[in-house]
Amino acid sequence: MENGKGRDDSQLVGLEVPRHIAIVMDGNGRWAAQRGLPRMQGHLEGRKATRRAVAACGDLGVEVLSIYAFSAENWQRPAEEIEGLMGLIEQAMREELDDLGRNNVRFIASGRLHELPSSLQQALAETQTRTADNSGLVLNLLVNYGGRAEITDAARALARKVKTGEIAPEQITEDLLAQHLYAPGLSDPDLLLRPGGEMRVSNFLLWEIAYSEIVVMPVLWPDFTKQHLIEAIQEYNRRQRRFGRAPNDD
Ligand code: IPE
Ligand code: IPE
Ligand code: MG
Repeated sequence: MENGKGRDDSQLVGLEVPRHIAIVMDGNGRWAAQRGLPRMQGHLEGRKATRRAVAACGDLGVEVLSIYAFSAENWQRPAEEIEGLMGLIEQAMREELDDLGRNNVRFIASGRLHELPSSLQQALAETQTRTADNSGLVLNLLVNYGGRAEITDAARALARKVKTGEIAPEQITEDLLAQHLYAPGLSDPDLLLRPGGEMRVSNFLLWEIAYSEIVVMPVLWPDFTKQHLIEAIQEYNRRQRRFGRAPNDD
């Protein structure tokens, strides 16, 4: 790993590293099915890929990594898989805490966290508190997260403020709404990365990805390495972000 670092970095010379990368980690189930293994094995292997992605983002100087771990719609999966995933996330929180500290990672969790098992809520809160003073990569883990739920929750918070007279409806702007999302301090994702090949957003960060560059890769999440991340960043650099402006003629 250490040996590869110089070569890895040389592939990004002169390129812009996205400040915020958001990943829909997908393909764990297919990875397991291809090997005749239970889906949970795919999730366990996917956890290793998440560790690699966090380390790689730290190495490359990414500021924020948002990772979709469990969607609001994933409750529709079999109870056994849901329990397995909840346990896996909780275990990862406890086991990764020291490494997050060593790597100066600041952890936050986003989603309807109050609906999660209480032991998982505690583990997420503890990781958040214990890494709050770290100044490196921000790792935003999305658990029981839905983009529509997030916007709905922001709308409710704003409605409460209108009701108490704290704000007038006319004061609701895009900026104010954004301040009521789950992680208001973060910049919007520059790069939305989806391994596993599906060309859809699956209710991920609907507000925040308004102008993200989308890169879909065929690699299944458990097989995802730093090299895939570098390739995605190279692809990102081939895009021209216009935000509605006329194209630049080079
Ligand atoms: C992504 O892998 C992990 C979660 C959604 C929790 P999947 O479990 O969706 O894997 P596939 O898409 O079935 O291969
Ligand atoms: C999106 O993956 C959710 C997460 C990665 C946590 P899914 O596998 O649930 O998405 P769909 O169902 O294929 O759209
Ligand atoms: Mg999937």
